[in-house]
Amino acid sequence: MIRVNEKTNCFHLTNGEISYVFCVDQQTSVLEHLYFGMAVNDRNYFEDLIEREVRPSNNLFVGSQTTSLEHIRQEFPMSSITDYRNPAIEIQYPSGDRISYFKYDRYEIYEGKKKIKGLPTSFGTEKECSTLVVYLKDSYSDIEVSLFYTIYRDLPIITRHCEVENRGEGNYYINQLMSAVLDLPECEYDFIHLNGAWAREMHLQRDTLIHGIQQIGSNRGASSHMHNPFFALCTPNACEQFGEFYGFSLIYSGNFIGEVEVDSYDVTRVRMGINPQDFKWRLGQGETFESPEVIMTFGKQGLNQMSQTFHSFFQKHLIDPNWANKKRPVLLNSWEGFYFDFKEEELIQTALEAKKLGIDLFVLDDGWFGERHSDDSSLGNWSENREKLPHGLSYLSEILHQNDMKFGLWFEPEMISTDTPLYKAHPDWLIGNPDKNISHGRNQYILDFGREEVVEEIFQQMDRILSTVQLEYIKWDMNRYITEPYSQALSADCQGEVMHRYILGVYQLYEKILQKYPNLLIESCAGGGARFDPGMLYYSPQIWTSDDTDAVERLSIQYGASFLYPISCIGSHVSTVPNHQVGRITSLATRANVAMFGTFGYELNLFSLGEGELSLISKQTKYYKEHQKLIMEGKFYRLKGDSIKSNEFAWMIVSNNQEEALVGWYQVLAKPNPGYQRLKLRGLNPDYFYAVEEKEFSGDLLMEIGLLAAKNYIGKEQEFWSRKKVGDFSSEIFYLKKVR
Ligand code: GLA
Repeated sequence: MIRVNEKTNCFHLTNGEISYVFCVDQQTSVLEHLYFGMAVNDRNYFEDLIEREVRPSNNLFVGSQTTSLEHIRQEFPMSSITDYRNPAIEIQYPSGDRISYFKYDRYEIYEGKKKIKGLPTSFGTEKECSTLVVYLKDSYSDIEVSLFYTIYRDLPIITRHCEVENRGEGNYYINQLMSAVLDLPECEYDFIHLNGAWAREMHLQRDTLIHGIQQIGSNRGASSHMHNPFFALCTPNACEQFGEFYGFSLIYSGNFIGEVEVDSYDVTRVRMGINPQDFKWRLGQGETFESPEVIMTFGKQGLNQMSQTFHSFFQKHLIDPNWANKKRPVLLNSWEGFYFDFKEEELIQTALEAKKLGIDLFVLDDGWFGERHSDDSSLGNWSENREKLPHGLSYLSEILHQNDMKFGLWFEPEMISTDTPLYKAHPDWLIGNPDKNISHGRNQYILDFGREEVVEEIFQQMDRILSTVQLEYIKWDMNRYITEPYSQALSADCQGEVMHRYILGVYQLYEKILQKYPNLLIESCAGGGARFDPGMLYYSPQIWTSDDTDAVERLSIQYGASFLYPISCIGSHVSTVPNHQVGRITSLATRANVAMFGTFGYELNLFSLGEGELSLISKQTKYYKEHQKLIMEGKFYRLKGDSIKSNEFAWMIVSNNQEEALVGWYQVLAKPNPGYQRLKLRGLNPDYFYAVEEKEFSGDLLMEIGLLAAKNYIGKEQEFWSRKKVGDFSSEIFYLKKVR
């Protein structure tokens, strides 16, 4: 999959579906990007893709008018030397200057790929992927940069990351380092990303790309509610089914940027990596810094193809294979039903009732530890509160398991409350400068996870619970962002390392726990979706998508999430009404019809429900379990809806053999006297016939004409005003099964 022309130093990565080509520029020895797109035939030379004009510019060499890096499309641009666009790397030298010149040195190819030290990394066997490493040497120091490119055989995916090694003496500082930079030759694209805030995460945003810089990112210590480490560029005409796109996603949960810069010559520079703000890394003698990994995809069949590529990639090459296709337990979470106020007996009764309704996992959320009666106490004291749980967690777990109910527990490991013994023993373990103000968030402070002893202490506390209480699941929360980044363990010149070291510590704790408890299901969460990212997905096969559980709000949130995350990881629950975030009343059916397209569960007080509702829940859990394999493993298609303003949403999942499908169709506000409605399905086999609600339809007509929804008139010949109306927030689920 990787071809190298030794004479021209040209590299061609191709898997028959996509091609990625770059070469070494003969004059400057920098890597010149030539092509990323549909697969092209391999040739002896790609030099005809090299474009050079004599332009008003500064040139590297005397006598040359075409050695301005500003006008060369590059793979790894440097700061300060003739290219004024934002760079891939900026190094600060002992002299104080930031002038580097990285030139091509050599390359290496191997089958498969290696894990990046300390960071979540996509994986693939020797048969599944090949890796090219290109080594660059700095002309002004003994710093070597290795650029890693992995191409996958089964998907249009190339991953990139880089490593910087100080092979010389003394300290250098990395002021910024991108995981990947790519210079595309055109700029007529739309810029797509997921925008949000707490309780309204991942709303799709699509804008025309303009000259200048457009950037998304986070400097909050987590990938954030605001932006997801993902963006795409697509041709302006691109829709779900047609049009070219480039998709980029970063396997990282901390501060990041995704940036697109269109220069004055219509070249589009893409940059993705750790956010340079609040980042500066001291690279001592013999040390190596590893960047997180970027996933890149290209296709021509519209945005749904991009989503399906990401879904398959995450399922096959990022999520723990033990979980990727494994059915997840339908759960009941205690949070919205009880908040902090519960007693052991109530929990037991609730869990037993849940079991009767077909729920398999009871999750005890916040409030079980220390003196935690509200959100202002006890984080960092992970031992059960005996007032609420007089017989302890082990007892509760035993009773549940005796009744065939799995048990899960909430933790917020990275946080500390000042009323805890841990804080009193180690006030210096907080992030923040003790001589300056340290801001709180939700009344809590952040542990300095960059310190090994901190990670070890929290591991010990969690291990005490995990080794004594039978737990199948934990919910790992993180409810505030980092402010005032400062570590008392680091020297003055290393304070720019706090944010990255923090997230490395978080990953380290995940590793330690999963190493000891490999069968534990961890659902990551950060005040809802503030860390819904591929980095977390590597450890946690499902992620709590949003604290907003309202079914209507969830339509745009889950729609946005589906842009790159597989349905099998989108945590979604049925909660009570009026909804606790927006006060909206939606039917139990609609709430479940939305939550079913995700990892399904409930989050309400079962004893506040009537018999009718309980019996409907039984039916819903049964229905979900019947179709769970399809939901977990099928191909996902978005059919309708494109933004928070949409009144109608629809999506579907088709099994890989195309023999069954599940369609969800949602209408926000009811319309009087509507036109006929039909929904064009996708992904079916045109030659199959499918049973849909006791009727039969051919696959081709379902896709070309659509599923007809004019049910209103059937058997209802009465006057319009006496007919039953569906009302606002209505929904339907259709199950399609091949009959012939
Ligand atoms: C966060 C989570 C919620 C819940 C609360 C508990 O907000 O996102 O689901 O666990 O914390 O405090």
